[in-house]
Amino acid sequence: MMKIAFIGGGVMGEAMLSAILDKRLSTPEAISVSDIKESRRQHLGQRYGVEVVESNRLAVEKSDLVVLAIKPQDLTGVMAELNGQLKSSQLVLSIIAGTRINTFCRGLNHGCVVRVMPNTPAQIGQGISVWTATADVTEQQKGWVSSILGAMGKEIYVDDEQYIDMATAVSGSGPAYIFLFVEHLVDAAVHIGLPRDMAQELVLQTVLGSGQFLQKSGKPPDELRRMVTSPGGTTAEALAQFERGRFSELVIQAVSAAYNKARELGE
Ligand SMILES: NC(=O)c1ccc[n+]([C@@H]2O[C@H](COP(=O)([O-])OP(=O)(O)OC[C@H]3O[C@@H](n4cnc5c(N)ncnc54)[C@H](OP(=O)(O)O)[C@@H]3O)[C@@H](O)[C@H]2O)c1
Repeated sequence: MMKIAFIGGGVMGEAMLSAILDKRLSTPEAISVSDIKESRRQHLGQRYGVEVVESNRLAVEKSDLVVLAIKPQDLTGVMAELNGQLKSSQLVLSIIAGTRINTFCRGLNHGCVVRVMPNTPAQIGQGISVWTATADVTEQQKGWVSSILGAMGKEIYVDDEQYIDMATAVSGSGPAYIFLFVEHLVDAAVHIGLPRDMAQELVLQTVLGSGQFLQKSGKPPDELRRMVTSPGGTTAEALAQFERGRFSELVIQAVSAAYNKARELGE
């Protein structure tokens, strides 16, 4: 059974832990979590029956896989603690946004590293993760990573780390773009006179239904869009207004800004 240590048991750490147990990729006895926060340790210990420890060094001692699920600002301290503590065969998997593989290799003095960009729908098994690995990571270890990320949704392996920064700007931050659009569509529906609870139901089901329709129909989005846009009709009127407000340009600018920020964070 794969032994796993989690350094940081926050929102994303818990999502991964819960998916691993759910899909029986490991057992509670084989997992230890160290989190600086007593309340998180208590919660995870009680809810999942995993071992919880205060010391990061203790957590990684017997593990095959060490998951770094802390915020970027806590990484320097954690790397100093773990430097020299890892065996070369132990796999380090980071979900920390922006931090490059090289930073882990140098900071931990360790060659066997995987970097992942997950997203928040992973919490309900509907996420998408993009990941890459150093040359030291074995095929068996890649298999573990693929099953763990697969338990949280879909996963895509890439050879080139640049794609991780790009994915950060698209799928990592993407849920926030969708939530923002949903908020504005609900507000607009209320603005024209719909009751808020009905507006929320209409918008949510429209987003869910459209996403699944797009996936199941296998047709490209522009074709599906044209199918609901009759000449001189209501949809055409709304789409023309979006374009007058330079919607497509704004989306490109927003995603490019996120990508530039992701690269900047990695420097
Ligand atoms: N949430 C997302 O959408 C998302 C998506 C992709 C990637 N990520 C990445 O995932 C990572 C974790 O995010 P999250 O949302 O799970 O963060 P989080 O909820 O803040 O979880 C991090 C946990 O680690 C604890 N911690 C801090 N310093 C520590 C230390 N030295 N040793 C052990 N534990 C320590 C934190 O305690 P304190 O709160 O007391 O500091 C907190 O409980 C981040 O680097 C983020 O970039 C997140």
